[in-house]
Amino acid sequence: MLSIAVFASGNGSNLQALIDASRCGRLKARIPVVISNNSDSFALTRAQKAGITTYHISQKKYPDYINYISQLLTVLKKHDITLIVLAGYMKLLPREIVDTYYGRVINIHPALLPKYGGPGMYGRNIHQSVLAAGEKYSGATVHIVDSQFDHGPILIQRRLLVNPNDTPDTLAARVLEIEHEILPQAVELFIK
Ligand code: GRF
Repeated sequence: MLSIAVFASGNGSNLQALIDASRCGRLKARIPVVISNNSDSFALTRAQKAGITTYHISQKKYPDYINYISQLLTVLKKHDITLIVLAGYMKLLPREIVDTYYGRVINIHPALLPKYGGPGMYGRNIHQSVLAAGEKYSGATVHIVDSQFDHGPILIQRRLLVNPNDTPDTLAARVLEIEHEILPQAVELFIK
């Protein structure tokens, strides 16, 4: 079975969607490792509850860049990782990792890329910008990662209608529901 490393920085609800899909057999993959740049990330707690090995690896923790990269590569190799999933990972994955796993790193983004992606487009900013622009649709995208933020070939995208009374928070919540559906689907697609 294919082994996935999930990188997450915050709440980890997308990680949870993957754990649940893997547990019920809908996703034919295992998640042996979760990596976070944030030691307080609830994603780490979710992973530990599911019996997954967790690592806190950040540039702050490993100020020497070569050592930082080597920590990441060692963990990925140790767990025989085939696919890296960035699920709410708020850092740019180092180029060395993207190059080593080229075509095998995917990211979920809460907007219809290529719009509303790139530096500064995270969290509430995205949904605020979508509403400010008067967009009719928003949604979520899973794409293969290259060396730029929120960039690379799109695997799956699903859209929803923006409601006239949507706030950034209501829109974010509805987009997040879509994310939880399409992320496991994207991994399945990758496997196929
Ligand atoms: C999601 O909207 C994800 O796409 C974005 O940050 C949010 C994180 O959600 N990058 P979670 O940590 O998976 O709950």
